[in-house]
Amino acid sequence: MISIRHLKKEYPNATPLRDVNAEIEKGEVISVIGPSGTGKSTLLRCLNRIETPTAGQIIVDGTDVTAASASELARVRRKMGMVFQSFNLFAHKLAVENVMMAPVDLLGLSRQEAYDEALRLLDMVGLKDKALNYPDELSGGQRQRVAIARALAMRLEIMLFD
Ligand SMILES: Nc1ncnc2c1ncn2[C@@H]1O[C@H](COP(=O)(O)OP(=O)(O)O)[C@@H](O)[C@H]1O
Ligand SMILES: [Mg+2]
Repeated sequence: MISIRHLKKEYPNATPLRDVNAEIEKGEVISVIGPSGTGKSTLLRCLNRIETPTAGQIIVDGTDVTAASASELARVRRKMGMVFQSFNLFAHKLAVENVMMAPVDLLGLSRQEAYDEALRLLDMVGLKDKALNYPDELSGGQRQRVAIARALAMRLEIMLFD
């Protein structure tokens, strides 16, 4: 599903990724662990091409995202979701509405279907009792879990969690 070959990312004052290689199969869950500042976020940003690698290749489901055209890249990105280290929930919407919104607007689910699915996902991340709370009524960790439920609601093939 994802093949990373000799990936290098160089900034003027740091080279967080020197020669990263990985083969990730469909269904696999991979954790990247390391101290702060060692390139974990940079790796994820290279995977969905928010960041342009200095060298190497990243093949996602047969498409080389390091050499993809704008339209190929858009197609690959539609399969991929990312939950950022600092994530944004809509402050004026309830937790459950945050999770429902994209499935209704982008996947065409009915509000009832999206609501049922959002409750299932919030239950899965341990937040069923917070479904009707606003983000500012939740702790940082609880907000992050709402953001994870929201990302899972999009039923994407690849999920990146920073
Ligand atoms: N946009 C950038 N410009 C310059 N240096 C950056 C940039 N982003 C990250 N870095 C540097 O790259 C290194 C890795 O950063 P990062 O990937 O955010 O680490 P991690 O997520 O593992 O904490 C750090 O030394 C950081 O200062
Ligand atoms: Mg990081």
